[in-house]
This record gives sequence, C-alpha cells and structure tokens, in this order.
Amino acid sequence: MRSADTLRTAPGETSAAAAHSEPNPPRRSASRSVMALGVVGVAAALLNACGGDSDNSAAEQAALVAQGQQIFRFDTFGDETQWTDTLRMHEVIRTAVDPMTALSVGLKVDSQALPAAVVAGIQNGSVDLKSPATTVALLKLDAVVGLKGTVETVNGKDVLTRVGVTCALCHSTVDNSFAPGIGKRLDGWPNRDLNSGAIIALSPAPSAAAKAVYNSWGPGKYDPRFNLDGKNGPQVIPPAYGLAGIHKIISTGDGDDLAYWNRYVGVTQMGGHGTFVEPRLGVSVTNGVDDLITAKLPALQAYQLSLAAPPPPSGSFDAAAADRGKLVFNNAGNCVTCHSGPEFTDANLRLHSPGDAVSEPEPGGAPSYASRSATKQYRTAPLKGLWQHAPYFHNGTVATLDAVVQTYNTKQSLGLTAAQMADLTQYLKSL
Ligand code: HEC
Ligand code: HEC
Repeated sequence: MRSADTLRTAPGETSAAAAHSEPNPPRRSASRSVMALGVVGVAAALLNACGGDSDNSAAEQAALVAQGQQIFRFDTFGDETQWTDTLRMHEVIRTAVDPMTALSVGLKVDSQALPAAVVAGIQNGSVDLKSPATTVALLKLDAVVGLKGTVETVNGKDVLTRVGVTCALCHSTVDNSFAPGIGKRLDGWPNRDLNSGAIIALSPAPSAAAKAVYNSWGPGKYDPRFNLDGKNGPQVIPPAYGLAGIHKIISTGDGDDLAYWNRYVGVTQMGGHGTFVEPRLGVSVTNGVDDLITAKLPALQAYQLSLAAPPPPSGSFDAAAADRGKLVFNNAGNCVTCHSGPEFTDANLRLHSPGDAVSEPEPGGAPSYASRSATKQYRTAPLKGLWQHAPYFHNGTVATLDAVVQTYNTKQSLGLTAAQMADLTQYLKSL
C-alpha cells in the first residue's frame, strides 16, 4: 500500500497527467465559457485580419489535430463495456498485474505523466514495482500507455473500478529514455513488444480454446478478425504514421480512408460504442445504444495523418551504398513497378492478388489473410520508416530488411548479385 501512497499526486502538485486526464473536460461555469468564446472570437478576428481564411483554417486544422491526439491517446469510446463488464480486466489488473508484469507483456509507461515524487520513488526504489497497487496508481495518473482506468476511493483506498483501452495501446510506444518501457510517448509507432493475446488471455471470460489462440500470437501481433471469423492468423501491428496521401488502408486495402478502419477497430475490436457495417464481409456490429465514435473520427483521422514516418537515425545506414541501392530498386530489382510514387506504393491505383505477395503462404498453415478481408487482395506496403518497424510483411514472417531482399531475390528470381542485394538493403534502411 505504501507504494500506492507514494504515487498519489499530492494536493496542489501539478503533473503532466493532470492535464491529460480529462478527455471530456468537465463543464466550465457559464461565465468562463463565455470568456473562452470571446477569446476564440478575438483570435479568429486577429487571424483573419493578418492573413485571411487560410491562417484561420490552419488554426482550425491544428485544433482538430490536437483534439485527435487526445482521442488517440485517451478515448475508449465506452469500450469499458468489453474490457470491464465482459473481460473483467479491472479485477485482473488490481489483483495480479504489478508494474513489472505489465512491462513484461509490453505495456509502456509515459514518463511525462509521472510527478517528480514518483520519478524519485522509482529511482530510489521506494515505489514498489512488484505491487498491483502501484499499477493502479499509475493508471490513476493516466501513465499506462493505451489503458484508461477509473480509480475510485473505497474505504479510503484507491480501487480500480473500470478499465478500457485506447488506440495508443497498439499504435504508440515510448522512447525508453527513463528506463526500458518507460519514457516519452511515440505516437504512431507500433508497439512491437505488446503481447496483446497474452493480456486478453489473463481474463477469466474466454474459453480455454480461445485462450490457446490468444496465447499463440506473441509480441507485436494481433488478429483483428479472429473474434468475427474464428480463424487464427495474427497480423503484425503496423505503424499509424506515414499514411498521408494513401487512400487504401490496412494491408488488404479494405478502406479508402483511415476513418473506415478506425471505426472497424473502435467498434468490432476495442468494443467501443457505435456501429460498424461491412456488407463485403457480412459484418454488422453495434455496441451500446449511444454512438461514442462517429463524431470523433474526423479529428482522430486528422491526427494520424499529421504523423510523418520517422527519418532514419543518422549513421544507421551507408549513404553511398543506399545511393547505389536506389538504382537496384528502380531497375534490376523491379521494386518500383509496385512501390511507386512519393509513398512507395501504387495503392491508389490498384491492389495485388495474393500470388503477387512474397509473404504468402501464411505461417503455420493459416488461411491467406487476404481471403479473410473485404478485398481478397493486398496493398503494396508504403516503405517510409521501414528501419523502425521490423519484422516485415502483414504476417511478420521476415525478420530483417536483408532477409526481405533475399526473399524477393529468391521468390521473384531476380538474379541480383550479393553486392546489389547489400546496396538495396541499405537503400531500404534509408527510407
Ligand atoms: C489491439 C491492437 C490494436 C488496437 C487497439 C488498434 N489497432 Fe490499429 N491495427 C492493429 C492491427 C493488427 C492492424 C493491421 C490490420 C490489417 O492490416 O489487416 C491495424 C491497422 C491499423 C491502421 C492501418 C495502417 C495502414 O498501414 O493502413 C491504422 C491507421 C490503425 N490501425 C489505427 C488505429 C486506431 C486509430 C485505433 C483506435 C481507434 C487502433 N488502430 C486500434 C491493431 C490495433
Ligand atoms: C508485384 C508488386 C511488388 C513488387 C514488384 C515488389 N513489392 Fe514489395 N510489397 C508488395 C506488396 C503487395 C507488399 C505487402 C505484402 C504483405 O504485407 O504481406 C509488399 C511489401 C514489401 C515490404 C514490407 C513492408 C512492411 O511494412 O512490412 C518491403 C520491405 C518490400 N515490399 C520491399 C520490396 C522490394 C525491395 C522490392 C524489389 C526487390 C519489392 N518490394 C517488390 C508488392 C510488391
């Protein structure tokens, strides 16, 4: 219990989390709202005076992106119905998930949400990382990336009474600047440590057979169709960055915009309140009687589209070899026939049959992932930020970029020399 006490934000103490912990801020008093409106009005008038509508719409766009960031990080769309009422994860967490366990299944802690006293407590060992009460305290601070807890005081003790998940669970990680698994948020970066299946399998609700499937997925993977079609073929969690200008979404290009898939996951996977209908798959899911997702999709999409792929760290590739590798990409390797244009994909023009994808057959005899999708095809993957997100292909079957090049050389009989393959690998690392 001491640990939880240490973590409690002292009265009057400011923490980064305090600013974050209100995705739906409480109603302000009438006079303050009027004042706030006045300020916005004046700001808009000033913007108009100094540059007209384009500045004004740039300000509106920035506000939309900022709102989308809050949704991406902290909004559950009411999915506590699934994670609390059905899966009872609040009981699992408060009794059995201490911070060490949480980190071991790939959950990440946002160091910027931690008050100074907690940082000191972790450093000097007085915060007990082996106590589930500490996890509850971290949830109260909104410091566990992708988990949103409701912590109430019962008989003077902090009790986790509700828990839900957000997009950041799978599509954010941290920079490990404080300790492994603890650092500043990196939104859009896939959490390739997250063992989502092992986490769900901690719930008392699923059958033994379903738990065996969940436990088979491993870190960095999740099957976003298993609960609908009963087939098991986990997908690598992809980046949610670098997607501006691409109008076919997910590895099979099912949607024309991000909002399509955000609604799919928000409703059918996270269990958020709202409706998702896809006639091509015969899927129609409605959760709750309220819609907590539709109104948020424009801001959520704007935020993701604002996330650029991260450039490669300096010194992480050989620039001269990458220059030579670009020629291989465009000529002997034939890569550019599909990986074309500024995002290295022809997705806006066409999709490809599974026979064109070197990543099939699926591992472990799983059915073709394309066959489970709405399009039955694959999208040529965009390639910016490749250095950041091994393993590769929708099913994560290829561990490194060297091995990707080897795979293409063999399966497409390209006849590249060892030197050409080495150069091509350096080029891929430079994107
Ligand atoms: C439990 C993990 C999980 C959660 C939570 C999750 N996703 Fe995903 N997401 C995935 C997986 C796995 C895929 C790959 C799907 C595929 O290719 O078929 C994916 C695909 C995507 C893509 C497609 C990227 C591309 O290259 O086209 C985007 C964008 C995305 N998710 C955003 C979101 C947003 C926004 C949310 C919250 C509403 C969310 N995801 C919640 C696991 C998750
Ligand atoms: C016939 C079209 C086509 C050609 C030619 C092609 N690719 Fe691809 N590429 C794809 C498709 C489709 C995918 C997505 C497959 C999947 O996700 O399983 C892909 C995926 C990839 C990926 C994985 C990206 C990720 O995010 O995991 C890399 C890397 C890649 N290709 C590199 C290359 C290189 C290098 C070449 C040339 C040697 C090449 N590709 C030639 C269609 C093509």
